[in-house]
Amino acid sequence: MKSVASAPGKVILFGEHFVVHGVKAILCTIDKRITATSQLLDERKIRIKSRLGNAELNLDMSSNLDSISPKFMRPFLHIAKETLREFNENRGVEIILESDIPAGIGLGSSSAACVATTASVAGLFGRKSKEDILKRAIESERIIFEDVSGADSSVSVFGGLITYSKDGIEKIDSKNDLSLIIANSNQIHSTREVVLKVKEFKNKNEKLFAEMCEQENAIIKNVLSAIKEDNLTSLGFLMSKNQEMLEKINVSTDRLDLLIREASKTSYGAKITGAGGGGCIISLVDESNAATTLENLRKISDCFISKIDFEGLSYSQ
Ligand code: MEV
Repeated sequence: MKSVASAPGKVILFGEHFVVHGVKAILCTIDKRITATSQLLDERKIRIKSRLGNAELNLDMSSNLDSISPKFMRPFLHIAKETLREFNENRGVEIILESDIPAGIGLGSSSAACVATTASVAGLFGRKSKEDILKRAIESERIIFEDVSGADSSVSVFGGLITYSKDGIEKIDSKNDLSLIIANSNQIHSTREVVLKVKEFKNKNEKLFAEMCEQENAIIKNVLSAIKEDNLTSLGFLMSKNQEMLEKINVSTDRLDLLIREASKTSYGAKITGAGGGGCIISLVDESNAATTLENLRKISDCFISKIDFEGLSYSQ
């Protein structure tokens, strides 16, 4: 029997970085997914083939996480080992990962991979609850980066628009079919390094950072009202305000600034999404300005238009 599960990537609409320090963030899933297919093996091996990052492992059950290279495969080994142990399974497992989420550019591919893998392996033994899958997905992500907030995995499991804070997630009850243009700076970034840089900024500027968290809280409050009213002009304006905050904590780059300036000429608003230091920007559009914005951005970057995915984690057999 094969067990197939898929999970969507995400964008952070508002509140990245500040979420690590206790502020609410607003996220949504995008219509690009990672699919994990698992199958039990008679031999006591763990085989993982990932088209995301193009890597392959064929390991003994006793393999130690710290010895695994490339490093990004470690969470998948952890998920496989822990799930087999939980269900007292002596056989091995093969996991195949396929992805249409571009990797390493802040669109949540690592989190979606952890969610899809957890759900797919657990699916071999009858499904677990979404909450249990989320718990294991976050625990496995933290093998790579212990400060990760859990926001990306949470939205990938539940889908749609959510708020996320350390106290948990809340679904935003809206079927607003926001259209976003996602443009890639093609600058490689490490979420871990950028988050650590912001931590340093916070430590050096404690009072200022506390004030900025308050300002970010106010932006988030206004965003929730604008979503309720389906007010794109206001949402776009708040995106630009949020971008100013991200610039103040030094996570923007000249290239990201250029993309944002270009997108802002025709869209409702634009900002970095995710860690910054490279990665992507998002730009809010509707049918009145999508084509022009896309055409302008295409002259200077790789970009595509995305809708919100309202499904989240899903299974197929
Ligand atoms: C990364 O996608 C978002 C950050 O806020 C880090 C996190 O929430 O774990 C920068």
